[in-house]
Amino acid sequence: MNTFLQYNPTRLYFGKDQVSQLTQEIKQEAKVLVVYGGGSIKRNGVYDAVIAELEKVNADVFELSGVEPNPRLTTVEKGSALCKKEGIDFLLAVGGGSVIDCTKAIAAGAHYEGSAWDLITQKEPIESALPFGTVLTLAATGSEMNSVSVITNWETKEKLGWGSPHVFPVFSVLDPTYTFSVPEDQTVYGIVDSMSHALEHYFHRTPNTPMIDGFMESLLRTAIQTGPKLLANLESYEHRETMMYISTTAFNGTLSNGTDGGDWATHRIEHAVSAVYDIPHGGGLAILFPNWLLHVLEEDPSRVKQLAVNVLGVSAEGKSDYDIALEGAEALRQFWNSLGAPSRLADYDIDDSEFEAMIDKTFIKPGVGTYKELDRESVKDILKRSL
Ligand code: NZQ
Ligand code: ZN
Repeated sequence: MNTFLQYNPTRLYFGKDQVSQLTQEIKQEAKVLVVYGGGSIKRNGVYDAVIAELEKVNADVFELSGVEPNPRLTTVEKGSALCKKEGIDFLLAVGGGSVIDCTKAIAAGAHYEGSAWDLITQKEPIESALPFGTVLTLAATGSEMNSVSVITNWETKEKLGWGSPHVFPVFSVLDPTYTFSVPEDQTVYGIVDSMSHALEHYFHRTPNTPMIDGFMESLLRTAIQTGPKLLANLESYEHRETMMYISTTAFNGTLSNGTDGGDWATHRIEHAVSAVYDIPHGGGLAILFPNWLLHVLEEDPSRVKQLAVNVLGVSAEGKSDYDIALEGAEALRQFWNSLGAPSRLADYDIDDSEFEAMIDKTFIKPGVGTYKELDRESVKDILKRSL
């Protein structure tokens, strides 16, 4: 194992009715900016539940609605300007990963004079940020318990991941009943995204990590067992809570303890694809990750083989490592496809005409991939396999 620091300051309130904890967390008469998306929280009652708690502490409530899936820089800038103008004390994100990511950028932008894009591109350091909490409504990204955010600049067609210790949520409320109304397609994307986070952590090269490897394998097997049951009954508390705990754990730092952190090349490529085509993140991953596996196993099938046998139920008997790995990559594609996830770029009407642009965007920051470092040709190979 590598040396590591385990640090995560986010207080997590998990379970039914935990929204009541807002009165413990938010100061009396605080000026609170509630950030949310396109209105799902108004239809499913979450908005009313949050506002009722804020009224109990006499909060002065401001609102920023309309955060887009794949949140835009323009919305971030609107939010930061509002914070400065109104002297906001605290931000409350109510929604999925997009709303939370946007809130993180608003929080950092509120303490900075220029455009938040300077902070996202790391042109300027992030010295501080407004404090914020989250009420999660969609199990997928893990943004509720990490310090990462992904923002799209639609003018330059760049979708960039960034992070800072200043943008850990102070607290997050995770009530599985709030995810009952997540539609089938978004539920599938959430399962794929959570699993991809565990899978990308899994592809590290640090020796002697049996405990964390086994933990990841268990998390992945549980997602495979739970996903179909949840899709058969979207209002199952049992399966919603399992997926919610999986998605938070898959990207809150736990899975990189003692390892080199894994290989996030597929996320880099997916962000490049959705910067050009604005497709759902989970849908893009479902297409790309099995093809990344196929690309990687050509050189070294050992880790894909381990995944195939320990997670995907592939029998090893009488087969070469290569064939076992190949079956594993296919089994993963088939599993996601059986849930209803796409498996080809063509499913989003994407052809090869923008490949060069997507490859450029993949390499906006140098160094793509650690388990296997990718060059432009390798990314092209993965995209071609995905057509
Ligand atoms: O806009 P609203 O009305 O809220 O509707 C949303 C949106 O249309 C809807 N939704 C959310 N909760 C719902 C619901 N509909 C009904 N009932 C509910 N309870 O679902 C749609 C998608 O929401 P979004 O927040 O975009 O989904 P997700 O949580 O998957 O977030 C995706 C974004 O997160 C980024 C992705 O790139 C993408 O931009 N990521 C962030 C990460 C992080 N911060 O750590 C890591 C991830 O790898 C990912 O890249
Ligand atoms: Zn993701």
